[in-house]
Amino acid sequence: MLAKTYGMSVFGVSAALITIETNVAQGSKCFLVGLPDSTIKESIQRVESAIKQMGGFFPRRKVIINLAPANIRKEGSAYDLPIALSLMHASEQVEMPTLPHFVIMGELALDGVLRPIKGALAMVMEAQKQGFTKLILPRENATEAAMIQGMEVYGMETLSETVLFLRGKTIHKPFPTTQTSTHSYDDGLDFAHVRGQKIAKRAFEIAAAGGHNLLLIGPPGAGKTMLAKRISSILPPLTLEEAMETTKIHSVAGKILQNSQLIAQRPFRSPHHSISSTALIGGGSNPQPGEISLAHNGVLFLDELPEFSRHALEVMRQPLEDHHVLISRAKWSIDFPANFMLIASMNPCPCGYFNHPTKDCTCGQEVVKRYLNKISGPLLDRIDLHIEVSPVAFEEIRSPDMAEASAIIRERVIAARNRQQTRFRNYPEVHANAGMTSQLVGLFCPLQTEVETLLQQAMKRLQLSARAYERILKVARTIADLAGTPEIEPNHMAEAITYRNLDRENWAG
Ligand SMILES: Nc1ncnc2c1ncn2[C@@H]1O[C@H](COP(=O)(O)OP(=O)(O)OP(=O)(O)O)[C@@H](O)[C@H]1O
Ligand SMILES: [Mg+2]
Repeated sequence: MLAKTYGMSVFGVSAALITIETNVAQGSKCFLVGLPDSTIKESIQRVESAIKQMGGFFPRRKVIINLAPANIRKEGSAYDLPIALSLMHASEQVEMPTLPHFVIMGELALDGVLRPIKGALAMVMEAQKQGFTKLILPRENATEAAMIQGMEVYGMETLSETVLFLRGKTIHKPFPTTQTSTHSYDDGLDFAHVRGQKIAKRAFEIAAAGGHNLLLIGPPGAGKTMLAKRISSILPPLTLEEAMETTKIHSVAGKILQNSQLIAQRPFRSPHHSISSTALIGGGSNPQPGEISLAHNGVLFLDELPEFSRHALEVMRQPLEDHHVLISRAKWSIDFPANFMLIASMNPCPCGYFNHPTKDCTCGQEVVKRYLNKISGPLLDRIDLHIEVSPVAFEEIRSPDMAEASAIIRERVIAARNRQQTRFRNYPEVHANAGMTSQLVGLFCPLQTEVETLLQQAMKRLQLSARAYERILKVARTIADLAGTPEIEPNHMAEAITYRNLDRENWAG
């Protein structure tokens, strides 16, 4: 007898429909066909054990299990459940005529208990596109999958529970659709706790408003890490669409905790500097998104930037520009979204005290230069704002005056983002000023003669690289947006120029 049901293959962050056909006929061998990898071949062992646990049997006849279409790579253990069910139906152990109405995925333990799978959200989205309305998934994935309106998701705990349900012996309600609010929660980190540091805070506000990358440079204890950890508190809320995108990536990476819902806050990822380039960028034999993709629509914080491997930093250059990363292998390539804001911090030299107001640096010019050279020019070039953070004075730390709260800064950031949304309404791929192409910079950052002259003079005087030019224009545009003026005014330009510290060829001598 022939049985048919459906599953989903996840590739990158998208899914594709897979038909699982099982035929049991005269003969004696079991064949698994349709480009399955070795992990799926092991599936037969788990399926056999799980079926036996519930009192069934593995047919000792000719069994052909076909996963179609054959040209899509299928991997992982998530096909156990549809294979087990179609096998039981095809061998006439239990009749489950409704089997073809469902998309079914789940890994089986040897005792028939269902284990969670990766990428459930991408599967539900694709199932809906393909016209399905019903899915059976492991119980742990149900909350995550139930985010999509109009889909019936049944969360099951065991193979036998699933069989009873498909035979109509038990009634299950579809999992209630989870709330898809993108209200951010409060993690207690607020800019009000940071004393002084007016310039640094201003730079963070500009970075958040325009989606600019930011590099903090300063001595130990100046508050760089403290500042960076507070960026989430001033970022605009995720739109529903962005939240879905981000959740989908985390789901594919298996990073969604059991029973958790839509990711409601912009991600803040801060990998340790010992991270490998694969873990940072993504990849591996069974390609997984890296930290840059997990930070999609949020922040990637690289603390102690020069300590990261040179290779890891260099491969990050392309995604920083393109906002996605293409991982290519001999036979296939996968595209992961990676639209993140980079916040990086570093000491100015190995001892940390170069340019310190009171302490002496023991490094010497050459050593300082060599340390800075660990960050390549092209990478530095992709960072719009460079700021020097100096430690605040003791009096300032002890001062009882509270600084401005993040909530107030955030309001200004949101207002500036709203202006940008209006500006880019015909350019859906551009979310903020930092994402403008050269052509858009030309279109949206016209300069009056006075401002143009100012920029020209500064470029000469500070020996700014030609590459810094566009960065300055984008930042000036954001400063004007924060001020709420349609034109870039001279003071906006003057401020933008100050954020190119490391471009100045006289930095570190
Ligand atoms: N402006 C400030 N207001 C309040 N506390 C501060 C400030 N600056 C520093 N501190 C205190 O100093 C501690 C150290 O700061 P932080 O870890 O951010 O320094 P850092 O610049 O990252 O240093 P390193 O280069 O060693 O990593 C903070 O945890 C905080 O308690
Ligand atoms: Mg630090």
